[in-house]
Amino acid sequence: MTILITNGTVVSPEGIVEADVLIDGERIVALIAPGDTSLGANLAASADRVIDAAGKYVIPGGVDCHTHMELPFGGTFASDTFETGTRAAAWGGTTTIIDFAVQKYGERVQDGLAAWHEKARGNCHIDYGFHQIIGGVDDDSLKAMDELIDEGVTSFKLFMAYPGVFYSDDGQILRAMQVASNNGSMIMMHAENGIAIDVLVAQALAAGNTDPRFHGLTRPWETEAEATHRAIMLARMTGAPLYIVHMSAKQAVNVLQEARDGGWNLFGETCPQYLYLSLEEHLSAPGFEGAKWVCSTPLRSKAEQHQDELWRYLRTNDLSVISTDHCPFCFKEQKELGVGNFSKIPNGIGTVEHRMDLIYQGVVEGKITLERWVELCSTTPARMFGLYGRKGAVAPGFDADVVIYDPAGRTEIGLHKTHHMNMDHSAWEGFNIDGHVDTVISRGQVLVDNNQYHGTKGHGQYLKRGLSQYLI
Ligand code: URP
Ligand code: ZN
Ligand code: ZN
Repeated sequence: MTILITNGTVVSPEGIVEADVLIDGERIVALIAPGDTSLGANLAASADRVIDAAGKYVIPGGVDCHTHMELPFGGTFASDTFETGTRAAAWGGTTTIIDFAVQKYGERVQDGLAAWHEKARGNCHIDYGFHQIIGGVDDDSLKAMDELIDEGVTSFKLFMAYPGVFYSDDGQILRAMQVASNNGSMIMMHAENGIAIDVLVAQALAAGNTDPRFHGLTRPWETEAEATHRAIMLARMTGAPLYIVHMSAKQAVNVLQEARDGGWNLFGETCPQYLYLSLEEHLSAPGFEGAKWVCSTPLRSKAEQHQDELWRYLRTNDLSVISTDHCPFCFKEQKELGVGNFSKIPNGIGTVEHRMDLIYQGVVEGKITLERWVELCSTTPARMFGLYGRKGAVAPGFDADVVIYDPAGRTEIGLHKTHHMNMDHSAWEGFNIDGHVDTVISRGQVLVDNNQYHGTKGHGQYLKRGLSQYLI
C-alpha cells in the first residue's frame, strides 16, 4: 500500500518546507520537493491512495511520553484502558505513547513490567513503550534496572512524593541514580517534598479544610522547588541523567534552568494543564467541582503568573517536552472518593486526546513557533526516550506516523463534542480551539480521516526503546 500526501507544508524543528510525502507500507520513503520528478512524473497515478493536504501542515505524529493507562491510585484505577486511551490519543493526532509500568513496594520489578505488557498487548491502537516506576528501591530492583535496558525500558520514574505508596527516600534515590549513571538510563523524577506535604495535608484536614482547592494549597510551590533542587543535587553527585516530570511552578523551573546552565544532563517537562488551567479558576471551583482538576504537581495560581513563565521556559528550552501526564478518573465514584477529604481524591487529569490541539494554540497566540510545536510534542520526546529514527520526524526511513493538521479548522472540546477518553467529564470543557486534526496515519495505516475512525485495537506495537539521544 502506497500513500502520497500532496501539496502539504511539512513542519519539523529544522524548518517548514513544501513537499509531497510518499509512504510505502509502514515507512516514509521520500519527501518530494515541488517540481522534482526524479521518482516519476506522475507519482499520484501510481499511488494506491492520494491525500490532498493543500493549505495544511504535515507533521510527525505526536509522541506523548507520559501517560498512565489503568494506573492504580488511591483505591481505584485510571479509567482509560490501553484500548480506550490509545484510541482517544489517535483521534487527537498522537501516534505514540510511553506509559508507566508500575512496580509496587514488595513486588518484583519484572513482574510489574510483565503486568503492563499484559494490559497493553493486543489492545493498543497506536505504538507504545514503557518507562518503569520503581516503587521500592532495594538490591533486587536496582539489579532489575540493568536487565530492563535490554527489554527496551530505558527510563525509571522515582517519587519524592506519596510517602507509603511510591515514595523513595534520598538514599534510595541516590542508589537508583548510581545505577542509571552506570547503565545510561534516564531517571524521571516526580519532584515534590512529600514528607512536608503530608504534614500540611494533615493540618489542613484537622482544621476542617477539606475542599479540593486545599489539594493545591497544601502543595505550595516551595515543595516543588525544594524537591527539584534536591533531585538535581543527587543527580550531580552521581552523574545520572535527570528528567523532571510535570513541572508546574516557575520557581522550580528556575532552579532547573540555573543547573542546566552548568551543562548537566538535566531536562524538564510540563503539561497542557499547567499552561492553561489554574488554582483560582479550576481547582477552586464551587463545591466539589474542583476535584476534576486535582493532579500532582497541582495547578498553580494564575495571579502568580506561572503560566507565562512556563511558556517562556518552553521557548528557551529549559522545558524541553510537553506531555499530558494523562491519568483520567471519572467524577462519579472515582473523584467522589474524596468528598469531604481532598486527600482521597485520585490525582490526575485526562488530556491525551487534546495535547496537539491545545499546544497548537500556543502557535496561534504567538507563544511558540510552529517548528517548536512539533519539536515539543513529537521530535524531542522521541529523541529524549530513544525512539528517534522511527518516531518524531517526517523523513525517509521513519515510521509513517503522520498527521495532517488544518490550521483553518476548528476543534470544540467537550464531553459531547470531541471526546473519546473513558471519562464522564472533560477537564477541557468549552475550550474552542483554532486548528483541527484532519488525518492521522500510524505506520502507514489511516486511523482518522474526515472525522471518521478507521483504526483497530491491536495495530499498536510495543516499542523497544534505546537510550536517550540527548546525553553527553
Ligand atoms: O496527578 C498525577 N500526576 N497523577 C498521575 C501520577 C503521577 O504522579 O504522575
Ligand atoms: Zn508524578
Ligand atoms: Zn504521571
